[in-house]
Amino acid sequence: MSTPQPIDADVLEVSAVAPFRYRVHFGRRLLDPGSPLLAATLAASPEAPPHGCLAFLDAGLVAARPELPGRVAAYFAAHADALRLLQPPLVLTGGEPAKNSFEIPHQVIRLARCERLSRQGHILAIGGGAFLDAVGFAAALIHRGVRLVRMPSTVLAQNDAGVGVKNGLNLDGLKNFIGTFAPPAAVLNDFDLLSTLTDRDWRAGIAEAFKVAAIRDAAFLDWLITAAPALRARDEAAMEKLVRRCAALHLDQIIGAGDPFESGSARPLDFGHWAAHKLESLSSHELNHGEAVAIGMALDLLYAAATGYLEAVAADRVISGLRAAGLPVWDMVAGRVAPDGRPLLLQGIEEFREHLGGRLNITLPSPLGHGCEVHELDEAILRRCLARLAGLAT
Ligand SMILES: NC(=O)c1ccc[n+]([C@@H]2O[C@H](COP(=O)([O-])OP(=O)(O)OC[C@H]3O[C@@H](n4cnc5c(N)ncnc54)[C@H](O)[C@@H]3O)[C@@H](O)[C@H]2O)c1
Ligand SMILES: [Zn+2]
Repeated sequence: MSTPQPIDADVLEVSAVAPFRYRVHFGRRLLDPGSPLLAATLAASPEAPPHGCLAFLDAGLVAARPELPGRVAAYFAAHADALRLLQPPLVLTGGEPAKNSFEIPHQVIRLARCERLSRQGHILAIGGGAFLDAVGFAAALIHRGVRLVRMPSTVLAQNDAGVGVKNGLNLDGLKNFIGTFAPPAAVLNDFDLLSTLTDRDWRAGIAEAFKVAAIRDAAFLDWLITAAPALRARDEAAMEKLVRRCAALHLDQIIGAGDPFESGSARPLDFGHWAAHKLESLSSHELNHGEAVAIGMALDLLYAAATGYLEAVAADRVISGLRAAGLPVWDMVAGRVAPDGRPLLLQGIEEFREHLGGRLNITLPSPLGHGCEVHELDEAILRRCLARLAGLAT
């Protein structure tokens, strides 16, 4: 029980804990009318039934699965006693363009207004990580936060972007400059959705698995390196294992580190990301997030080896694993230089520092499976590592 604030105090202190709870499910055929999971998830709302819901689908996903809007509508029709789809599923732009303006959040918010979605109503978002970030941002704003159910449809969204507590939009070329922390009501990972991904998007999610394994789980990293060729060849059982372990490691960070909304100055899981975010912007998003993360990690692995944080043989082993998984470790954009000869990529260090709030916190693996934080990066050493990576590519 808290002590009442003194009536004549000049300072009133607020200190509260706001608990949250949600489940991340794994399965297949979750949109079959007979599957009870989605209906039970939506019925968990305190709203009186039938539970109102708006469904938004990633246009890239629907292009690969034209039957999907009909399947979602049929699911709700089969559960009409408990659920009410307020409008037919709306298909909106997916991929990174979804995050590059307020257009998608605006459309979601407008539809929620038109359909009088209640504050206990649901938004169901099915798509890739970028789409979920944009729709999730809108869901966090409607009535100051409605219940968001995510059905991630890419590897990266199932093992990372779609399972956590963040959303985001890009602004003026800065990744995720806008966004909120907003836990979802639930996440439903349906492995069947992954079968229509392009090879590039299939592999992109493998990069985030290497990222979290390299700084949290040495045994998982060993497995990833061994399984890399099978993962690249689209072995579904291997990918299922990857998604489950990687999602669990991300959730462990949210649950176990005592700072789910990252109010401290570090971004503890963002190994390789200072460079990745800059590479994505420099390439105008021609490089996808996972590819950029793979190159960012390769650079930081060489840096960790050059500065004594990691044995060179360990860094090389992980880089070989990334390449065996079909991920790039170099791109021409990483070699672009400013008129004074400085690689443009290195501007990413200042941008990351600004984002963190003044003090640089870069996570490097040291040793493999464990993260350590460094607070400065030596530019001359980074340049030599860049040159080595460029050499590897040729
Ligand atoms: N919020 C977070 O915590 C978090 C964490 C990591 C990454 N992210 C963000 O996630 C984004 C990357 O997500 P991504 O890798 O899923 O890429 P993406 O969302 O850009 O999707 C890649 C492409 O696949 C299409 N697509 C989606 N599902 C499909 C399917 N099943 N079949 C065929 N095509 C499909 C999309 O339309 C898109 O064109 C980045 O913007 C990144 O910043 C967010
Ligand atoms: Zn990432």
